[in-house]
Amino acid sequence: MNILLICGSAREKSFNRKLSVYADEALKKRADVKTLDFSGVPFFSQDIEEPVPDAVGDARDAFDWADAVWFFTPEYNGEIPGRLKNLLDWISRPLPPTYARENTPAFGKPAAVSGAGGSRATKSARGHLDELLNAMGMKVCPDQMGIKLDEKEFKEDVFEHPEAVRDKIGRQADAFLAWMDQEGFIPEA
Ligand SMILES: Cc1cc2nc3c(=O)[nH]c(=O)nc-3n(C[C@H](O)[C@H](O)[C@H](O)COP(=O)(O)O)c2cc1C
Repeated sequence: MNILLICGSAREKSFNRKLSVYADEALKKRADVKTLDFSGVPFFSQDIEEPVPDAVGDARDAFDWADAVWFFTPEYNGEIPGRLKNLLDWISRPLPPTYARENTPAFGKPAAVSGAGGSRATKSARGHLDELLNAMGMKVCPDQMGIKLDEKEFKEDVFEHPEAVRDKIGRQADAFLAWMDQEGFIPEA
């Protein structure tokens, strides 16, 4: 099974990127995993949908490749970062542009949501992302996971207890795979 990892942060020392690295490690041997680099995706405009910009084509291909997608989102002012919303606006569009939502690379695919952030552990951003993914026709795993960062972690840019975070991601990987199995999302080998 192919699982695409998407980190909403562009920051070099991003905690959410670290979560995605732990997820990659946790999924190894049970899935083929890729991490999406969408740094080249331009701001969405209906005026530039065709021809498809190269970076958007690459992101669409990655979604086509994926049987499932796992998101790692920071929380910016209670929301997901604009760059992640921008990516998903692109991915939500059928080609050629029509109203056929089923013809998009994300439609019907399972998704998992995690996030590392401040006092509410990205609860608000994860809730918004859940709503957005549902609006795009994705099936979101009910087991979300949030990591609450404290002042020291923000200051030093490292997890104080990386093994505990790694364990949490490992448990979420198990729950995501078990849920997909139960819901019939795992393709036949
Ligand atoms: C513009 C902006 C808004 C933020 N708003 C929130 C917020 O609403 N809630 C929160 O928990 N953290 C907020 N933060 C702090 C982020 O959680 C923190 O920067 C985090 O490290 C970002 O994730 P990353 O490490 O993966 O880049 C905000 C940070 C920025 C830059």
